[in-house]
Amino acid sequence: MSERIVYVNGEFVNENDAKISIFDRGFLFADAVYEVTAIIDGKIIEWEGHVKRLERSLNELEMVMSINPDELLSIHRKLIAKNNLSEGLVYLQISRGVADRDFEYPEKNVQQTIVLFTQVKSLAESNIAKNGIKVISVPDIRWNRRDIKTVQLLPPSMCKMMAKKAGKDDAWMVENGFVTEGTSNNAYIISKDNVLVTRNLSNDILAGVTRNSILRYAKETEIKIEERPFTIDEAINASEAFVSSATTFIGPVVEINNHMIGNGKPGEQSLKLRKIYIEESLKRSL
Ligand code: PDD
Repeated sequence: MSERIVYVNGEFVNENDAKISIFDRGFLFADAVYEVTAIIDGKIIEWEGHVKRLERSLNELEMVMSINPDELLSIHRKLIAKNNLSEGLVYLQISRGVADRDFEYPEKNVQQTIVLFTQVKSLAESNIAKNGIKVISVPDIRWNRRDIKTVQLLPPSMCKMMAKKAGKDDAWMVENGFVTEGTSNNAYIISKDNVLVTRNLSNDILAGVTRNSILRYAKETEIKIEERPFTIDEAINASEAFVSSATTFIGPVVEINNHMIGNGKPGEQSLKLRKIYIEESLKRSL
């Protein structure tokens, strides 16, 4: 991989020259929030949704948005241009900043640490869309403010590894008998009587930017929508299942706990929604 230009606190630098303090609270306390935004044809997908959620995540942790959205958009664009990024993602992280290690938030006006970098990835023509993914269920071992997009990602990382060790692609996390979400995506099923079911928003899951748009587009089709928790048994008996995220868009799920979903191939409705999602998002890309 060639060396990237990354953004750190106001400067664009070679990735090997980028430096962060060891006292950064993002490093010591995972006291930081992040966003991952898809890029297609060098353009940003779902900008407004990501920026809105970023501001909300910061506010929930008593931080302010210290950079204005227009400036942040311009940094994204410069970074995409400097790295000649056609398709992939931009990762953005804002931490509370640097302070002596203490559980209390620092009182003084600490300067937030702002980092952005790009990653090349095939999104529109991915293998996930072609083949679908296989998932297993695992207990949801995360904290209970999953609505805040923080960088404390070790629990979902552990869940993902359980799936990998079982020879599968991802894990659906289950709490009190109901699916919360995938390790880094929202989870959906389409029942045999054509109802799209996905868990309602609360502190239990992240409000996916992709999820929001998918539900909006789905409302324009003949499909009925129910936002409520569902069980693994219900999912196994569904006709289709899928996940959504900024970097997957819609990823069909073809197997859950070794049970084939539908005919074991990506579902028709899921692929149709994926197509609508990509087309509509591209129209609105910046
Ligand atoms: N993850 N739920 C969780 C736990 C997530 O981490 C993500 C996104 C989503 C989907 O949100 P969105 O549609 O806004 O991407 C749901 C990103 C992609 C990541 O961590 O890489």
